[in-house]
Amino acid sequence: MNIPLLTHLQALDDDTLAHLLDRANTLADGVVAKPALSGATVANLFYEPSTRTRASFEIAARRLGAQVLNLDITRSSTVKGETLLDTVRTLHAMGIAYFVVRHGGHGILSELAGALKGSRLAVVSAGEGRDGHPTQALIDLLTLQRTFGELKGLDIAVVGDISHSRVARSVIPALTRLGAVVRIAGPDALMPEKDEFPGTTRVRNLAEAIAGASAVMALRVQRERIHGSDAPTEADYAARWGLNEERLAEHAPQAKILHPGPFNRGVELTSEVADGPRSLILTQVANGVAVRAAVLEWLARELENG
Ligand code: CP
Repeated sequence: MNIPLLTHLQALDDDTLAHLLDRANTLADGVVAKPALSGATVANLFYEPSTRTRASFEIAARRLGAQVLNLDITRSSTVKGETLLDTVRTLHAMGIAYFVVRHGGHGILSELAGALKGSRLAVVSAGEGRDGHPTQALIDLLTLQRTFGELKGLDIAVVGDISHSRVARSVIPALTRLGAVVRIAGPDALMPEKDEFPGTTRVRNLAEAIAGASAVMALRVQRERIHGSDAPTEADYAARWGLNEERLAEHAPQAKILHPGPFNRGVELTSEVADGPRSLILTQVANGVAVRAAVLEWLARELENG
C-alpha cells in the first residue's frame, strides 16, 4: 500500500486541494485545532537550510499535540554516508511516523515513498530540488484567497528566477488550475523551457509583466542552484527586474506583493516595497503555520484510514 505523501499539488484531486485550503483558512482565522497528532512525533529532516518552513512545521506539529524531532543533518550519520532512506527507516523504527523532508535531490521523495511502500508513516515535502514546494504554494494560494476573495480571474505576475524555483513549479500550475490569469517573466538565463507552465503568458520585461496586475509574486535568484550560467549580477537584476515603489506606482498601482522568502533586500525588491503597505510577505509567513497544520491533520487522517 502507498504511504500518505505530499510532494506535488498536481497529485491532489480538486476536493482535497479545496479541503486543505478551507481548513487552513479556518485555522488562520484562529480556530484552535484538535490534537490530531497527540502522542505522535514529527521528524524535521532538512538537508538544506530553512527558517520559515522548518519553524512553521514545528509550531504546527506542536499545536496538534505532536512532539518534534529536529534532526541536525550536519551532525547526523548522513555525514558518514547514511542515505535518506536509511535515516527514515532508522527513525521509524523508534516510532516516528511523520517525516517533513527538505532535500535538493530531483525526485528523491517519490523514490523514498516507493521504497517505503507498506510502512505506516507519512512524508511531506518541505521543498525538493527544483521539483516542488507544495506547502509554500498552499500558503501563496491561501494568502491570495484571503486577500482577494477568489483566485478565478485574478491577474498575477510571477517575476524572477523561475527556472530554478521549486515554488514556481508548485504555485504556477495551481494558480492556472484555479483560474488565475498568470504572466511569467524574468532574465532570459533564469526562464524555464518554452513549453513549461502551459496556460501562462511569457513576457519579456518587468513593465509588461506587472502591468495592471492585482498581485506580483517575486522569486529569489537562487544562486545556490545556478552553475556556470550567464545569470545577471545582483546590480543588473535590481536595475532591470527589481520591484520598487516607482515602478509599481507606474505599472501596477494596486498590486499586492508576495515573496516566498527568504528575499534579498535591494535585489528582488526594495525595503520600501518589502516593508510597505503592499507587502503580503509576513502574511504569507503567518499563514504558513495554518497551512502546515492543515496538511499534518490531513496526513494523520490518511494514515488512520490507510
Ligand atoms: N519559503 C521558504 O521555503 O523559506 P525557508 O527556506 O526559510 O523555509
